Amino acid sequence: MRKIIVAGNWKMNKAFHEADDLVFDIVKHIDKNGANGVEVVICPPFPYLELATDITENDGVFVGAQNVSNQESGAYTGEISAMMLKSIEVKYCIVGHSERRKYFNESNQFLSEKVNICLKHEIIPIFCCGEVLEERNSGNHFDVVKNQLTESLFHLEAKDFKKVVIAYEPVWAIGTGVTATSEQAQEMHVFIRNLIEENYNKRIANDTSILYGGSCNPQNAKELFANPDVDGGLIGGASLKADDFYKIIDSF
Ligand code: 13P
Repeated sequence: MRKIIVAGNWKMNKAFHEADDLVFDIVKHIDKNGANGVEVVICPPFPYLELATDITENDGVFVGAQNVSNQESGAYTGEISAMMLKSIEVKYCIVGHSERRKYFNESNQFLSEKVNICLKHEIIPIFCCGEVLEERNSGNHFDVVKNQLTESLFHLEAKDFKKVVIAYEPVWAIGTGVTATSEQAQEMHVFIRNLIEENYNKRIANDTSILYGGSCNPQNAKELFANPDVDGGLIGGASLKADDFYKIIDSF
């Protein structure tokens, strides 16, 4: 059975006291109302991860990092290792977000190293894929996503691939207010699931959680999540406001 996941990617936002308040609000809401079978994940910036893992302990809310080094340890000034994340009980890590690809030139090959190191340290990668607008307009979106998955994930053995979560985030929908239509999301999610079946097997394909990300909000979440192959969301802007984030969680 695949998991339904709603993950909040806070990106580079919030001061310490604001992060503290937001984590508390989310935990309080889940304690009171439950999460309706949804695995709730919050991905704050690095300095707040330990605060988040402390507050969420035993509360049905899990913590993810937004990035990780591709190296084990040593002289890599400014980097954060998978071992460090594991040592503060971080469960997930976003890998390959389009902002990392664009602003930090992270290639598919480089991202495959980050996926490997996460799995080695028992951190679940939330691997992001998705096309830019020109690629969609020229009809190349399926090839782009296939290439991203092939070069960063499909080298994994089945036992490791099974642990990975995929997030389809069309770049043109991120932070733009333009969300993919329900049909566009479902179509790409089926395409991804079929690729997984071709590379592994039907069972693994069925069990892989494929999240949608890109201008997902309380108004459109229900329709997006109603698709049989959309197993949750990776939420940016709307995860920064507790009320909006609950509404998205409650859309399942
Ligand atoms: P928005 O929800 O702000 O469009 O961001 C999506 C995203 O990039 C999540 O990783």
